[in-house]
Amino acid sequence: MKPLLIVSGILVASAVGAGVAISPMLTSAKAVRDDGPATTQSISQNPQGAQAKGAQGNAAHAEAVAPAPAPAPPPVVTPRKNYTYKSFNVDGNYIAMTFDDGPNPETTPQLLAILKERGIKATFFVLGNMVAKHPEVLKMIADEGHEIGSHSWSHPQLTRISQAAVEKELGNTSEAIFQVTGKRPMYLRPPYGSMKPSLRTMIEEKYGLTTVNWAVDPNDWKFRDSQKVHDAIMAQVTPGAIVLAHDIYPTTVAAMPRVLDELIAKGYKFGTISDLIAMDKTPKVQLLAALPNTGKPQQAQQKPQKPKPATASAKPDGAKPASKPAAGAAQPPRAGGVY
Ligand code: NI
Repeated sequence: MKPLLIVSGILVASAVGAGVAISPMLTSAKAVRDDGPATTQSISQNPQGAQAKGAQGNAAHAEAVAPAPAPAPPPVVTPRKNYTYKSFNVDGNYIAMTFDDGPNPETTPQLLAILKERGIKATFFVLGNMVAKHPEVLKMIADEGHEIGSHSWSHPQLTRISQAAVEKELGNTSEAIFQVTGKRPMYLRPPYGSMKPSLRTMIEEKYGLTTVNWAVDPNDWKFRDSQKVHDAIMAQVTPGAIVLAHDIYPTTVAAMPRVLDELIAKGYKFGTISDLIAMDKTPKVQLLAALPNTGKPQQAQQKPQKPKPATASAKPDGAKPASKPAAGAAQPPRAGGVY
C-alpha cells in the first residue's frame, strides 16, 4: 500500500512536473515568435518590406508539415542588475524613443498614428492614474505593439516619499497596466529621473522593474515649442540613445513627424527598450574597468561608452513643471552613470 502510494505520487509528480515544464516553454516560444515580427518591423525603415517578409514567412509555415527549426535564436532580454539605463552600446544606429506621462486621449492617439505610419515601435512610460482614467488609450498603445513601462501612479519624487508610499505607487501602477494589457511592466522611468541605488535594488527585487532614464532631453515640457523640441533632439541624438519626450503635449506630438523623418533620413533605426537591451553589447569587463585600479591597465580600452554626459539626465523629466523646483536641486549630485 505504502510503496504503491509513493509510486503513484512520483508518477503524478512527474506528470505534473512535465506539464509545468513543457507549458511555459511553449508559451515562451510563442511569445518570442510573436515578438519577432514586431521587432523586425519596429527596426525596419520599410514597413511594406517587413509585411512582405511576414507574408512569405506565413506561406512557408503553412507548407511545412513538421514544425521547422527556429531560424534564429530569439533575442534574450536580460536587463542588467543594479543599473540605470540611459543609453545602449549597440551596433548600428538604433535608438529608443520614449514617451512619458500619458496615456492622454487628446494627444496619444495622434502620436500612435505618426509612429504607425513610419513602422516605429516606441516605449510609453505611463502614469497609473492616467491608465485608470483612459484604459482604452493604453489598450491602443499595447495593441499597436509598443512597449509599456511604469512611471508611477501620481508622479512623486520616489526618493522623497516613504518606502510604503513607493510600493503603493509602483504596485498599483503595475496592477493597472496588467488589468488592461495582461502584462506587467518590466521597466520603470522614475519621475524626474530621481533614483538612488538602495531604492532601485528594492524596486528591482520586489517589482521586477529595471530603471530606465534617458540620454536625450529636449525639455519639451518647458518650451512647448515644436521647433525647439526638434532642434534639441537632433542636436543631442547619438546611436544607442534613449530619447525622452512626453506624449501629453500637442507641441511634442506636432514635432514628431519631422523629427522622426529626419532621424530616418540620417539612418537611425528604432526599437523598444527591450529591443535595445537585447542588442546591448556592454561587456562585463566594463564593470571591472569601473572598479578601483587593480594594476591591469589593459582594461583601459574597454572604458565605458558614455554618449551623453550626465547634465541632461540631472534635470527633472519635467512632467510637472509646477512642482517644487527646489526638490530637484536638493537631490544628491548625480555623477555620470552612477545611477
Ligand atoms: Ni514624468
